[in-house]
Amino acid sequence: MGKHVVTLIPGDGIGPEVCAAVQEIVAAAGVEIEWEVQEAGAAVAEKRGTTLPDEVLESVRRNKVALKGPIGTPIGKGFRSVNVQIRQDLDLFASLRPVKSLPGIATPFTAAPPGRGGMPGGGAVDLVIVRENTEGMYTGIEHEIVPGVREAVKIVTETASTRICEFAFDYAEKMGYPRVTVVHKANIMKKTDGLFLECGRAAARRHPRIEMVEMIVDACAMNMVRNPNRLAVVVTLNLYGDILSDLAAGLVGGLGIVPGANIGKDAAVFEAVHGSAPDIAGKGLANPTALLQSAVMMLDHIGEHTCARKIERALRDVYERDLARTGDLGGRSTTREFTEAIKLLMNEAPPPSLRTPA
Ligand code: NAI
Repeated sequence: MGKHVVTLIPGDGIGPEVCAAVQEIVAAAGVEIEWEVQEAGAAVAEKRGTTLPDEVLESVRRNKVALKGPIGTPIGKGFRSVNVQIRQDLDLFASLRPVKSLPGIATPFTAAPPGRGGMPGGGAVDLVIVRENTEGMYTGIEHEIVPGVREAVKIVTETASTRICEFAFDYAEKMGYPRVTVVHKANIMKKTDGLFLECGRAAARRHPRIEMVEMIVDACAMNMVRNPNRLAVVVTLNLYGDILSDLAAGLVGGLGIVPGANIGKDAAVFEAVHGSAPDIAGKGLANPTALLQSAVMMLDHIGEHTCARKIERALRDVYERDLARTGDLGGRSTTREFTEAIKLLMNEAPPPSLRTPA
């Protein structure tokens, strides 16, 4: 496969450190990428007076794919969140968060036997959250009606609800999940969430091979803790998706582990969902796992499946064999040691079962 051009937004704090680690691992896996480095975030705000210079979005528009580190939004200085601007300006309507446990990182289910709080399959979590990213409760339209009474506007459209539900069903079909759980609160918000639910039902009719389950958001929160895998692919409105994605991440070891992507018709941005970790920035202690897993999603997106599997296998092996572990997961490894361990495993011969016959 030829060379790819990808926009790289290293971001703030530990961003440049985890980005460098990921670039090194991707190169070692054999993918040829020309990284077009673009600065955004708190660091660039001081130099340029904006957290998101125009050329960043132009670069993502041109290359159609980007990898992004965490970005700090300076608080109280009137800057809009860079993450929100990128999503809105590029119309990245789907937030995709696959949540899978890694071997060697305990989940709340690992120890408990099935039927006693545990899950079949030894506690390995595997579910995906698809969140509508452009409207719902996050329109930012709020006002004071009279002193002491304020109102926020929630917008739900048929167009946005249909495209996110279609995206979820297509994703389930492509990735081999048996069902989509459409999560809503239509019992209370009959008009808005009711429309979302109708769009989910219509998408289900167009995908007869995928089962559809309707679930109220509070019940979903409980079920996600009791038996997450049963949900398979969750599709939901913006606010519920925001909350449920972090709940799901908590099931597998937190935000330092899970990948994320914001996907639109014309561009996709793959990102770490954790923040810039100012407490450990510049110390070489950051865990690059979340961004690396996002990079694996990105490689699949650009068709580099073999290298994606190679990195994925090495990452799982590092955790399973406990070859390196950073401080956030109770280990003592540095970012460099972790990166080297992955590179070493990628170069190890795969076990016989994984070798292609000569
Ligand atoms: P944070 O995620 O940066 O840090 C929370 C804790 O997790 C800290 O103890 C940190 O050291 C640790 N941590 C996070 N990622 C880690 C990693 N990869 N390896 C090892 N430890 C890690 O959240 P916080 O402190 O609330 O936010 C700091 C800054 O990040 C703020 O400016 C915030 O706006 C920004 N932020 C950006 C996000 C993004 O760009 N997607 C998301 C969340 C926050």
